[in-house]
Amino acid sequence: MGLLFTPLNIKGLSLANRLMRSATYEQAGLKDGGVSAKELGIYRDLAAGGVGLIVTGVTIVCEQGRMAPKQNSLSRQSDIPGMANLAREVHGQGGKVAVQLFHAGREAARMHSWRGGGPALGPSRPQDDPYFTLDNQAMSPEEIARVVASFGEAAGRAREAGFDAVQVHAAHAYLFSQFLSPQTNRRQDEWGGSLANRLRLHLEVLAAIRAQVGPDYPVMVKLGLADGFEGGLTLEEGLRAAELLAQAGYDCLEISQGLRGENYEQSEYRTKVNRPGGEAYFRSWAAEVKRRVNIPVAAVGGVRTPEMAEDILARGEADLVAISRPLISEPGLPARWHNGQTERARCVSCNKCLEEIMQGRSMSCVFERKRAEQ
Ligand SMILES: Cc1cc2nc3c(=O)[nH]c(=O)nc-3n(C[C@H](O)[C@H](O)[C@H](O)COP(=O)(O)O)c2cc1C
Repeated sequence: MGLLFTPLNIKGLSLANRLMRSATYEQAGLKDGGVSAKELGIYRDLAAGGVGLIVTGVTIVCEQGRMAPKQNSLSRQSDIPGMANLAREVHGQGGKVAVQLFHAGREAARMHSWRGGGPALGPSRPQDDPYFTLDNQAMSPEEIARVVASFGEAAGRAREAGFDAVQVHAAHAYLFSQFLSPQTNRRQDEWGGSLANRLRLHLEVLAAIRAQVGPDYPVMVKLGLADGFEGGLTLEEGLRAAELLAQAGYDCLEISQGLRGENYEQSEYRTKVNRPGGEAYFRSWAAEVKRRVNIPVAAVGGVRTPEMAEDILARGEADLVAISRPLISEPGLPARWHNGQTERARCVSCNKCLEEIMQGRSMSCVFERKRAEQ
């Protein structure tokens, strides 16, 4: 008997097993950020498929942090009923669900023409940046304070809507990664320079969330532990950041990539996962974090077999194993493994699901679609 299908408790939230659906943006919401019938179906299938905890896709805390037109929102009180439907759908199947709270920072510039609004905001103006060729404005202290408050308010709404937890998205080149990385944060004030200053946003946001949700509600964070290129956030600093976040009172750390480097191979969604040595590509990072903190740690990135998931848990390298792409093609994968059909996930990590989104369509597995059409 392995550990994968044993319960786990995160700050009083009781999970039936150690498999977590890592946040996945489906591009299936309504244009104003509302929850669609299609989304309710996706979440129903995921919950019925037996995953222990679902994390939603990127959900905006304020319009200015929006990256794509169909992202769900908790930026307004009027978002609560729709999001409550989504939480209810998961609970109706016996599942648990956390909402991922998000701000794109300067990455919103990629949507600039669509946004038609003010300029994208980041910690600093771009400088010698190999992977960002657009422009953004540097945030004023007042703008930072407004974003911090928005995270707190959105978390309060998440709790009111019935979500079991929130997860702050502090990875993958978005606002928190931009603040933490010395490549993108060139500020001279209390928000830049030392690690403590570059991590201030993460800590202030936690305090703002706590003020709204109280001491007993699980507040998780997905942390980009290191950047995908030289000159960015180092692993050593990322590890220290993870320790500080755990000490400050975050309740669970999911360990992923910071700023992206060259192509998919230096990003959070690597390909070639099924080659020998390709599976579980952030495993050693999670293991190192796990050695240093006393809160649950989730390992994400290219886990495709129950044997690998069990091995990570058995060696104490993580408390949870998070997967994203395999659940796009097979939402029932956890139940399949639990029932003893332990073949590897059907997902081949080709990233066509992601490319569908980049081309403006809803998330889907191209292969599963073809299979269904045959
Ligand atoms: C289509 C797609 C959408 C994603 N959306 C999000 C997201 O909203 N938030 C997030 O933190 N990560 C997102 N990710 C990254 C995944 O959560 C995960 O970290 C990454 O895909 C590696 O896990 P995997 O190998 O199991 O897919 C997305 C990945 C894909 C393929």
